[in-house]
Amino acid sequence: MRVNGRPQRTIWPGSDGASVEVIDQTRLPHEFAVARLDSVEGAARAISAMLVRGAPLIGATAAYGIWLAMLRDPSDASLRAAAQALLSTRPTAVNLRWAVERMTSWIAPLPAGGRAAAALARAAQVCDEDVAINRGIGAAGLPLIRAIAARKPAGGAVNVLTHCNAGWLATVDVGTATAPIYEAHDAGVLVHVWVDETRPRNQGASLTAWELLNHGVAHTVISDNAGGHLMQRGQVDMVIVGTDRTSATGDVCNKIGTYLKALAARDCGVPFYAAVPSPSIDWGVRDGLREIPIENRPAREVTHISGRLPDGAVATVAITPQGSAAANPAFDVTPARLVTGLITERGVAEASEAGLRRLFPERAPTINPPHP
Ligand code: MRU
Repeated sequence: MRVNGRPQRTIWPGSDGASVEVIDQTRLPHEFAVARLDSVEGAARAISAMLVRGAPLIGATAAYGIWLAMLRDPSDASLRAAAQALLSTRPTAVNLRWAVERMTSWIAPLPAGGRAAAALARAAQVCDEDVAINRGIGAAGLPLIRAIAARKPAGGAVNVLTHCNAGWLATVDVGTATAPIYEAHDAGVLVHVWVDETRPRNQGASLTAWELLNHGVAHTVISDNAGGHLMQRGQVDMVIVGTDRTSATGDVCNKIGTYLKALAARDCGVPFYAAVPSPSIDWGVRDGLREIPIENRPAREVTHISGRLPDGAVATVAITPQGSAAANPAFDVTPARLVTGLITERGVAEASEAGLRRLFPERAPTINPPHP
């Protein structure tokens, strides 16, 4: 995508040949800042502290993290330690495991002397594949938006509601849930996006709104609780969300609050789609509710909120009484029965095992080890 008119990805190798640069998403929307990661520990910290976030970008950062580890020490022990450090950062997005396992299987058979160069090339491949996958999701989702647009009176925009940030900032480029929206907008289809603020970290208000504004897509930020009301009033034509992990049976794990949007959408007869790149499908999970590990994040994200003061400084303030406990489960699971369709890079699948396997027939059933 473009920032201030210049093409921009979320992650790229540094010009010094020994680092990776990322957009520091903790500073958006108030400041566009770039962070330099020069070690696997730095890459792991960037994932844990959410300088980078969103399932596909977490995977891409992990891929470059393996490269940084191989640059410093290409031994087997270093490869194992790097994989372990990266895998322990965040539990829910399966793209992390997907990227680490892929990188390890590519790098481990090579002699130590060839590992760093190969890891750099493979990490770039992971990133380019992500962009191609997201473009495929855009192409597959565009007809869904066009079909709704065709039923609108002249000048009427298609109202899409989205939750969290599954935009280009959550990926290497293009985004997943936003890919059909950008495709439609660029094709001249009138689109308006309802942007859930997405408490507690406000990825919608801070990141999705910033992206859409940059790209010139009409949008309105709403509180998380407003979506059901808008759906009851016929002001939402469709919902498109992203996913951190989708089961082989079509259960969609995504940012906390997604499930409530799916319930409201079902009650109101609004189609509810998840944009699902294939690396976000966990073919070893059959029951998303029971088997997908849900990250519990610090209570402070609930008890405090950050924003820009009138003097331009960014400050964090408390919003709960001192002494109140707070809980912060970061993801929830929307059962397949509430999902109208899964928009993948190969087309739109029914949210079911049969639907996914029809599009991905090469995937043999797998069994995951139990998670702790
Ligand atoms: O906690 P985050 O910001 O990493 O959560 C991100 C989401 O839940 C996204 O919707 C999901 O990763 C899909 S991103 C294409």
